[in-house]
Amino acid sequence: MTLMMRSSHVFSLLLILLPLLASCFADPKQVYIVYFGHHSGEKTFQEIEENHYSYLSSVKETAEDARSSLIYSYKHSINGFAALLTPDEASKLSQMEEVVSVLRSHPKKYSLHTTRSWEFAGLRKWTKPHHLRKEDLLMKSKYGNDIIVGMLDNGIWPESRSFSDAGMGEIPPRWKGICQSGDSFNSSNCNKKIIGARYYLKGYEAYYGPLNRTIDYKSPRDKDGHGTHTSSTVGGRLVHNASALGGFAGGTASGGVPLVRLAMYKVCWAVPGVEKAEGNTCFEEDMLAAMDDAIADGVDVISISIGTTKPIPYTEDGIAVGALHAMKKNIVVSCSAGNSGPNVSTLSNPAPWIITVGASTLDRAFISSVELGNGMKLEGQSITPYTLEKKMYPLVYAAQVLNPHVRKNESSQCLPGSLSPEKSKGKIIFCMRGVGARIGKGLEVKRAGGIGMILGNSKENGDVLDPDSHFLPATGVTHISAVRIFKYIFSTKEPMAYIFPGTTVLHTKPAPTMAIFTSRGPNTISPDILKPDITAPGVYILAAWSEASSPTKLDRDHRVAKYNLLSGTSMSCPHIAASCALLKAIHPKWSSAAIRSAMITSAELRNNEGNLIADIAGNPADPFQFGAGHFRPTKAADPGLVYDASYTDYLLFLCSSGLKNLDSSFNCPENPPHPRNLNCPSIAIPGLRGAVTVQRTVTNVGSSRSVYFASIKPPPGFKIEISPPILFFHSVRQKKKFSITVKEDSEMLGSRKKGEYAFGWYSWFDGIHNVRSPIAISVA
Ligand SMILES: *[C@@H]1O[C@H](CO)[C@@H](O)[C@H](O)[C@H]1NC(C)=O
Ligand SMILES: *[C@@H]1O[C@H](CO)[C@@H](O)[C@H](O)[C@H]1NC(C)=O
Ligand SMILES: *[C@@H]1O[C@H](CO)[C@@H](O)[C@H](O)[C@H]1NC(C)=O
Ligand SMILES: *[C@@H]1O[C@H](CO)[C@@H](O)[C@H](O)[C@H]1NC(C)=O
Ligand SMILES: *[C@@H]1O[C@H](CO)[C@@H](O)[C@H](O)[C@H]1NC(C)=O
Repeated sequence: MTLMMRSSHVFSLLLILLPLLASCFADPKQVYIVYFGHHSGEKTFQEIEENHYSYLSSVKETAEDARSSLIYSYKHSINGFAALLTPDEASKLSQMEEVVSVLRSHPKKYSLHTTRSWEFAGLRKWTKPHHLRKEDLLMKSKYGNDIIVGMLDNGIWPESRSFSDAGMGEIPPRWKGICQSGDSFNSSNCNKKIIGARYYLKGYEAYYGPLNRTIDYKSPRDKDGHGTHTSSTVGGRLVHNASALGGFAGGTASGGVPLVRLAMYKVCWAVPGVEKAEGNTCFEEDMLAAMDDAIADGVDVISISIGTTKPIPYTEDGIAVGALHAMKKNIVVSCSAGNSGPNVSTLSNPAPWIITVGASTLDRAFISSVELGNGMKLEGQSITPYTLEKKMYPLVYAAQVLNPHVRKNESSQCLPGSLSPEKSKGKIIFCMRGVGARIGKGLEVKRAGGIGMILGNSKENGDVLDPDSHFLPATGVTHISAVRIFKYIFSTKEPMAYIFPGTTVLHTKPAPTMAIFTSRGPNTISPDILKPDITAPGVYILAAWSEASSPTKLDRDHRVAKYNLLSGTSMSCPHIAASCALLKAIHPKWSSAAIRSAMITSAELRNNEGNLIADIAGNPADPFQFGAGHFRPTKAADPGLVYDASYTDYLLFLCSSGLKNLDSSFNCPENPPHPRNLNCPSIAIPGLRGAVTVQRTVTNVGSSRSVYFASIKPPPGFKIEISPPILFFHSVRQKKKFSITVKEDSEMLGSRKKGEYAFGWYSWFDGIHNVRSPIAISVA
């Protein structure tokens, strides 16, 4: 349009353009999920789809418009559809009868819960963790042969030795899943280990347009590594000599349940225009379609290492909604708590029908020390597959070998282009952490001709070492060591140093320690529910990797790795999924709640020094970090008592929580039980005034005749009474009710701050089983 256009023309043009402009700008179409609750089970797929169209047609101009805007019609368990709607259409639909909720899909809402890979990637020797090695337990579960775990993730690398089906028995006949073909993937890529594979990207494509097939496979194949890693953590076969990059000898790699069946539901994708290392995205309409299929396909456990970076309500949370449907079918859903720690109230996936998993360390370190010319030896950590010839090398501080233009405040940072090749050549460069990727600093030293790098922690980094897989011999040291190196360099004419090759050190103490990144409670969505539930290894976990990715996922890294070390609650979640699969194999009739209860009440509170599990700074950690403690699958298989809960119990919980009911077929009673009386294996009481009594019921799953005694460790400043304090059981599956009364301890009044939580425990003990529950209380 030019400015010379006559006004009448402008006017008529505007009339034509207005509706167009309106649909483009004023009323943009977005993907919404229209959710009805559950299918009653009487309708055919066609009738369901017609029903969904009829809702769409009632807000759309034409039938054609309705058809073209439908993205998914969820037909198995979940009753609902995803469609392109204007806000106005969405609002009309939300007011219709039978519509439980209408939620808008957000492109950046969900992502995989791995820490940024360039911060944590690498390869190195690995020995199997000791947790799931109890052969008798594995034998009892037939190594998971009859159990199917559904993975919601970003694909799988089927050629990995971890997914070999050699010697595996026939696929359980109840399996109804498929092996969906696509880019570099067809039905030949499934076997008796990977029994199903599908992909979901209609929601992704509705937002980003057609998938750019150079950045991801339009198929269940993994171009990133994450999905291959989590899948092999759950159910990888025993692989001897899991060989690592640079010729490093490996240990034996194995998933938690080596014969379990895996089904990949690819729901997360590369983000266009962004390097793989920078992230990925998962759309909830795609995840809902995947969960609906997984439930219908016949999975027993679903592992979801996906979430938000902050808490969101259940009605706006596709994972919570899908998991509720799974729980109804007794499918256990394990989810990552998130990597938004150490800040409090950062927890993702807080629903009580999910098992929410925090992350902690293994008893393993990657030691690569530094020796200075004055004989001083300082411990460092590294998983770098390159080593120096054994002799001393000239050592310089980065600021001494800079290019002229570098800013003073960035002189120690080894940022790209900052080092002078002339001055750096053949030297070990001492760089500081602060800004920029750690791997990138190593690359800069290498570019400038440096022969090695020592990366010093800033004051903020303190003692937290993140061993990396650098591109040259390199190690990282604590802040105290960094200060010593700095002083040494400026105390002598010819500073020298040597970096020892990295070695894996096992049985380090203390372990486990809570990961600094693990997301924390309290649960802001349901304050009456204690979250997370449990912690499992999530720091430097070795598992299979995609050969279409590099270990750092950086575009400039062209190394190929069959196994890789990764950190995040993404890595701890599949440990719990594997353990739940074991329990499911041993107790096939148990509900989702019973299995979660067994995992939680059997968790370990102490580390390998016999002290309470601590955080990385050495302070005692609390249930808002580790839930009930560190997982112990062998104990969980025989928990003694379980806190069971039915689907209806969770709906009653939703009624009393003042949350919108998530099942339209269920009518909330007038006086539903208080949310804190949901039969959870843990207790959270926010804002206590005076006294509160909590009801619980335990089911005997141990020996038929047993007597359990209550023991209590009240949170400081509170008194706790359990009534009755002794429970007598005469048969298996017998249920007993008891109540827990919590009072403020008047003598300790004034020692507590409003809203500040105190933690304690109670447990039932019969001489064999210790059924322990964490308690978190704050005062009003
Ligand atoms: C799958 O693809 C491979 C490699 O392209 C091919 O050899 C094989 O025959 C295909 N299998 C099926 C079932 O199409
Ligand atoms: C697809 O991604 C590649 C790699 O990032 C990029 O070079 C290419 O331009 C993209 N293609 C389109 C159509 O966006
Ligand atoms: C592992 O690799 C080493 C070195 O290549 C070899 O000596 C050893 O026999 C291998 N072990 C197994 C179990 O394959
Ligand atoms: C974490 O908490 C600190 C201190 O309360 C605050 O300054 C910071 O902004 C928080 N970080 C995030 C990501 O919310
Ligand atoms: C250094 O200072 C410049 C300009 O004052 C600023 O843009 C830059 O962000 C600073 N860098 C760091 C690491 O603080």
